Amino acid sequence: MEVRLAEKNELERVNELRKQVNDLHVKGKPDVFKPGFSEELRDFINVIWEDPEQDIIVAVEQGKICGFAIVHHINKPETPFMYERDFLDVDEFCVDEAARRKGVATELMTYIKTYAKDKGFHRIELNMWEFNQGALAFYEAAGFETFRRYMEIMI
Ligand SMILES: CC(C)(COP(=O)(O)OP(=O)(O)OC[C@H]1O[C@@H](n2cnc3c(N)ncnc32)[C@H](O)[C@@H]1OP(=O)(O)O)[C@@H](O)C(=O)NCCC(=O)NCCS
Repeated sequence: MEVRLAEKNELERVNELRKQVNDLHVKGKPDVFKPGFSEELRDFINVIWEDPEQDIIVAVEQGKICGFAIVHHINKPETPFMYERDFLDVDEFCVDEAARRKGVATELMTYIKTYAKDKGFHRIELNMWEFNQGALAFYEAAGFETFRRYMEIMI
């Protein structure tokens, strides 16, 4: 398997995987996520492509993209409460339903860790929805630890 930066002509396939994530989010949190995969969501991949602070990474097996990640350089300036924070955020992450539990996500994450080190980052962050226990199990297996929580109560 090859893990590398995406090429422009691969963005349509990346969008097929982005739709898988969106469908999962709609199923798990229908009060928050909009069903379907609107033209706006589809086209947003081009905004990401053009942004120098973001990169699209793909895992390719036998010529087919079977996983992708979007990484985003975030800089949060110092505030009265907090020091400046500069880190790499994993904004989107998915392995094709047909290719799961074969180590694809692990290889993607290994690439991201090397990418982050090469660019001088000392922290990789991501956030996820609590219903997505499969993703949590993967991120923990990849070495991530929870450092902050969002909580809610339905009233
Ligand atoms: C989460 C996800 C990326 C994992 O991808 P994957 O390629 O199947 O993961 P790997 O094969 O590299 O798994 C490595 C280890 O993580 C853990 N793991 C991965 N998926 C798991 C799951 N669904 N349940 C429990 N543990 C899991 C296991 O320890 C696994 O090792 P094992 O297979 O030897 O038991 C994939 O299920 C996915 O794309 N899900 C839908 C999209 C999504 O949730 N994205 C992230 C949130 S935006």
